[in-house]
Amino acid sequence: MKRIDQIEPFRVMQLLERARALEAAGRDIIHMEIGEPDFPTPAAVLAAAHASLDRGDQYYTASTGEPRLQQALADWYQQEYGISVDARRILITPGSSGAFAMLYAVLLEQGDRVLLPDPGYPCQRNFVRLAGGEAVNIAVGPETNYHLSAALLQQHWQHHTRLAVVINPSNPTGTLIDPGMLAHLAAHCRDHGGYLICDEIYHGLTYGCSPASALEHDAIIVNSFSKRWAMTGWRVGWTIVPDTLIEPCRRVMQNIFIAAPTISQHAALAALASGEASETMRQAYDERRRYLLDTLPSLGFQVAIEPQGAFYIYASVAALTDDAESFCWRMLEEAGVAITPGNDFGQFRANEHVRFSYATSLSRLREGVRRLRSFLQHEHWAGVGIADIPS
Ligand SMILES: Cc1ncc(COP(=O)(O)O)c(C=O)c1O
Repeated sequence: MKRIDQIEPFRVMQLLERARALEAAGRDIIHMEIGEPDFPTPAAVLAAAHASLDRGDQYYTASTGEPRLQQALADWYQQEYGISVDARRILITPGSSGAFAMLYAVLLEQGDRVLLPDPGYPCQRNFVRLAGGEAVNIAVGPETNYHLSAALLQQHWQHHTRLAVVINPSNPTGTLIDPGMLAHLAAHCRDHGGYLICDEIYHGLTYGCSPASALEHDAIIVNSFSKRWAMTGWRVGWTIVPDTLIEPCRRVMQNIFIAAPTISQHAALAALASGEASETMRQAYDERRRYLLDTLPSLGFQVAIEPQGAFYIYASVAALTDDAESFCWRMLEEAGVAITPGNDFGQFRANEHVRFSYATSLSRLREGVRRLRSFLQHEHWAGVGIADIPS
């Protein structure tokens, strides 16, 4: 099959496009599909961007990033996690997506295998395929907090396996990897001549816990300003690589994107210092998370493991349907509520699951729940087991 034909669409974007079309036609849609913060970028970050513009920061930075941002991130790792890291190992990229594209270009040869969790962040497998690698989707469930485990790596690691990739906390499940397991995963990859890549984009958005960074186990780290600092459109992220990979990464970065956006890098420097703003957002997410966790089961959505991070809830709809995708399209068209079907995240029991995003205000979530309840309770829905949903 041609490489481009292996690239799947990002279904949530199709759903979003339809939701936008309905809005353009005058419908009110509750967005529980989008994985994008609804908060404005913190004021201090905007001010830093304005100052950068006024200074005329129009030129490319070094390919590996503005040195002051690399150093500020190194200081931040010390402060945040108590880990000392050489700033040269921190490479600034256009979002974490830029980091993944670059890392796979550097690390994969044609046919190399990459172990990924299913369900997992959908773009991963497509990045791997674009770099000529083979994305190996490994079914994960509540038994392992929806994460890869050492036993699963043992079972699936073969001769051409090069990488295992984890997202901690996970998208779509919001669950965390057990800290001991993270150490085992990193050790397994190292012992087999490969690497563990840990996507920590949802660090800082955790509730009742503060996960350690896999940097302490010498994993390759990918992170971003997109989520914690509400900066999705600024396109700035980073990766932390071993010394030996700095030069190859630099060469690829020079060629494929030259550098991350300069003004965004200056803005990112201010983001690292804006602790209070990100804490306010975190608290609001936590309140929304509690509300949905308390409410969804009464509508027939079952949550196997309470998510402790990100802004997602991955729920079983097995009591309502065996076709989550049609269910989501009907919810959008008929109830005006957008949620993402499980098959965006893989294949394993995908038809039984949906993902709710709570990156939308509590009042909109309440309205979404009201609409779902009324839809599921009344004449429209011919599913099973919902007749006794309480109002
Ligand atoms: C797990 C995960 N990794 C990476 C990304 C991409 O983020 P960025 O904006 O940093 O490219 C997302 C975006 O939703 C994500 O959920």
